[in-house]
Amino acid sequence: SLRIAVFASGNGSNFQAIADAVQAGKLDVSIELLVCDKPQAPVVARAERAGVEAFVFKPKDYASREAYEQEILQKLRDKQVDLVVLAGYMRIITSVLVEPYEGKMINIHPSMLPSFPGVNAIGQALQYGVKVTGVTVHFVDGGLDSGPIIAQRAVDILPGDTEESVAARIHAVEQELYPQVIEWIAAGKVSIEGRHVVID
Ligand code: GAR
Repeated sequence: SLRIAVFASGNGSNFQAIADAVQAGKLDVSIELLVCDKPQAPVVARAERAGVEAFVFKPKDYASREAYEQEILQKLRDKQVDLVVLAGYMRIITSVLVEPYEGKMINIHPSMLPSFPGVNAIGQALQYGVKVTGVTVHFVDGGLDSGPIIAQRAVDILPGDTEESVAARIHAVEQELYPQVIEWIAAGKVSIEGRHVVID
């Protein structure tokens, strides 16, 4: 079955949803590695509980982004990872990883791309005053949240909403959508045709 690595920087609710789906037999992949750039992040303990090996590093211990990415790339190769799943990994990724994993690296972003790329997408949407935002899963290319889109789900913004209340609804949608998309990829249903992603 498909061998995946999950990259995360924070709470890890998406990591947990993926691990739970695997555990429940709903998702036929093996999680070979968690990659995390924040030693104190809750996702590290989640990986430990799930029995998933973690590579945890401090970017400051390295001379450059490329230097730690070379080390990550070696680990991905050692583990024969087929698919890299970015799940709240809050760092820019360079060509060191993007090129070898072109078409094999996906990201989840808490907005309806191409609206509100980058950090704090939920805050950006609230501040703009949109009535509908959402969740996007896309392949990663060299740009900022710019690769071919695999799936999107809408989330309404309601009167009285705060960043916290919108985030709660977004996270619930993410935790359903991300394992679903990974299952489509694992089943060979997803192909890239230029800008467009086809799902059969
Ligand atoms: C998720 O909402 C994800 O969409 C977002 O970070 C959160 C991580 O939550 N990603 C980005 O903003 C990427 N630019 P989690 O750690 O609980 O999975």
